[in-house]
Amino acid sequence: MMGSFSVKPVKVGICGLGTVGGGTFNVLKRNAEEIARRAGRGIEVAQIAARRPNPKCETGSTPITADIFDVANNPEIDVVIELIGGYTLAHELVLKAIENGKHVVTANKALIAVHGNEIFAKAREKGVIVAFEAAVAGGIPVIKAIREGLAANRINWLAGIINGTGNFILTEMREKGRAFADVLKEAQALGYAEADPTFDVEGIDAAHKLTILASIAFGIPLQFDKAYTEGITQLTTADVNYAEALGYRIKHLGVARRTDKGIELRVHPTLIPADRLIANVNGVMNAVMVNGDAAGSTLFYGAGAGMEPTASSVVADLVDVVRAMTADPENRVPHLAFQPDSLSDHPILPIEACESAYYLRIQAKDHPGVLAQVATILSERGINIESIMQMEVEEHDGLVPMILVTHRVLESRIIEAITAMEALDDVVGNVVRIRVEQLN
Ligand code: HSE
Repeated sequence: MMGSFSVKPVKVGICGLGTVGGGTFNVLKRNAEEIARRAGRGIEVAQIAARRPNPKCETGSTPITADIFDVANNPEIDVVIELIGGYTLAHELVLKAIENGKHVVTANKALIAVHGNEIFAKAREKGVIVAFEAAVAGGIPVIKAIREGLAANRINWLAGIINGTGNFILTEMREKGRAFADVLKEAQALGYAEADPTFDVEGIDAAHKLTILASIAFGIPLQFDKAYTEGITQLTTADVNYAEALGYRIKHLGVARRTDKGIELRVHPTLIPADRLIANVNGVMNAVMVNGDAAGSTLFYGAGAGMEPTASSVVADLVDVVRAMTADPENRVPHLAFQPDSLSDHPILPIEACESAYYLRIQAKDHPGVLAQVATILSERGINIESIMQMEVEEHDGLVPMILVTHRVLESRIIEAITAMEALDDVVGNVVRIRVEQLN
């Protein structure tokens, strides 16, 4: 091997030895030499904080404590790797580590999305780095790609499948007809799901990640509380099949778009044309499309969750920290991509002010003229219909499903139209509404 690493190794402490913590330890050990050649110094795990051992991780003689604050307060440790998850204890741990002058690497999207503004301000005061590549899209280096690789661009929009568990569930349901609960259990066993899996299926986890992506793409502060979130639990096989018949796939998508009035920040089930690459991202895989004015559309694809894919991002951050720790803090890449005093106050739009095309499924009585009434409601509100499909009468209830896809329209306008449709005598129950994005 060329070169030698006579400089003392950097000492790191891993807090949390679950799926990601175990993966991080294993990757650091297995690839120690390769990693040191990249970082310019060895990296030594000097302490682990864990409540229980991880059978997938042979920690050998590495000291283990049950108290995460032992790591944050350990004077030997240069970098604290926070992999315990959650908003509360992780928040205290990261603030303590920063206060003690330690750099931090975290995979915690909830923590960054909710407390990131405060954490980065504290980190700047102390001149330390808080790195969070693993917080978004598991093993895909998308934070680095947007923050550095696309730094020339004015980013117009980004859209991503950014929850592996949800995508795994949707794929298994669509391809194998498996039941929702059954697939979710498997995702939990594989270590993909959050401690509270409602975060996955209700879009909260994706909204955490989208908040982070939007911030580094548009140079705005983190504003998770303004993200719109809709989950996948209400999706039916009927809509999945009708979408297919129309040439679309349903994906749980996070969308962030810059408009003149503000920024759209929304997570919801979405119909995407089936021939788009992103529509064919299946299982636990994630993908993020980013559209910039110079680069055009780029697509980043890879495993969105799991032991070593997520560890790959944690370790990459660690290498970055090791390289940058001796540099003047002013010369480091800003946490949120833009210089902290140059963040924009362009507002996040409420969902009613967002614009999208819509798939509508209307259950109507088999009477003449219903379709005409529905079309009138739409035309009176200036909503163009892109396609329409009227199905056969359903035997079990005698109702006729009518499927419509509209052109792009303001959410408030479609809500008005849906309210008017639901008030028609011949329309039964609620109109199903799913957003449609062409992503072109
Ligand atoms: N629960 C998350 C997912 C883990 O399924 O995507 C990775 O952030």
